[in-house]
Amino acid sequence: MSERVLIIGAAGGIGQACVGLMAGAGWHVIAADLTEAPGGAESHILDVTNPEACTALAERTGPVDAVIYAAGIVATMPIARTDPAVWRRIMAVNLDGAAHVCAAFTGPMITEGKGGAIILISSAAGVRGEAMASAYSASKAGLIALVQSMAAELTPHQIRVNAVAPGNVDTPMLRAVARDIAKAGGDDEAEVWKSFAHTGAAQRLVQPGEVARVCMALCSPEFSAVTGTTIPVDAGYLL
Ligand SMILES: NC(=O)c1ccc[n+]([C@@H]2O[C@H](COP(=O)([O-])OP(=O)(O)OC[C@H]3O[C@@H](n4cnc5c(N)ncnc54)[C@H](O)[C@@H]3O)[C@@H](O)[C@H]2O)c1
Repeated sequence: MSERVLIIGAAGGIGQACVGLMAGAGWHVIAADLTEAPGGAESHILDVTNPEACTALAERTGPVDAVIYAAGIVATMPIARTDPAVWRRIMAVNLDGAAHVCAAFTGPMITEGKGGAIILISSAAGVRGEAMASAYSASKAGLIALVQSMAAELTPHQIRVNAVAPGNVDTPMLRAVARDIAKAGGDDEAEVWKSFAHTGAAQRLVQPGEVARVCMALCSPEFSAVTGTTIPVDAGYLL
């Protein structure tokens, strides 16, 4: 039987890349998102902000060998005009959702006793913060602390837990950020988009497949001693 990976946010840019790569490599992919996700062996509709729905999904799927949490939302807003409802929604999806999914799936993983891997997609913004993105950056920094705590707790059960911190990745989310920044500043959207490619030392955007390859590698026993860490996949954004 092939190894089973649960990919949350599977209909998104990075999620879809993970689905395609891992299905192609022979993993049994269980995809979950707010909408149907193409390409997985199984696709489930899931709102991660609903803890009961996360538990119900874990009951339906049974234990998995790996979890990749790639759900997320972003908002561009100055701290002085932070809308509390937007702040709460970002925390609910990016951070609370990851905790709900891990709460639902780690119990069965421990009971099964085979070990496994959990990867949470954080962000370079969670490592060093970013202007106009306080809620997003705080939620992503929270994921890094969640990873460290879960790794300390779960590594004795042979479940490794790591974060991946992408830089600017060419996905629908980043397109939406370019649109918002352009609108807020009265700038040309195409120029804002172009500027995103020049934020890292490599002077280019990261491709979703580059993030997916690191996620898949972290699921592999080749990385058996890597746990509790955050791996930037940022084309030099954090340099
Ligand atoms: N694109 C980037 O530049 C970038 C950079 C750093 C980190 N990230 C992170 O990578 C992850 C994937 O981002 P992406 O760029 O592929 O974005 P995306 O918008 O293409 O995908 C995000 C997915 O999350 C899903 N989602 C949102 N709310 C949900 C909910 N309540 N329940 C279930 N699913 C929900 C969406 O439906 C979508 O399919 C996110 O966590 C994002 O913050 C992205």
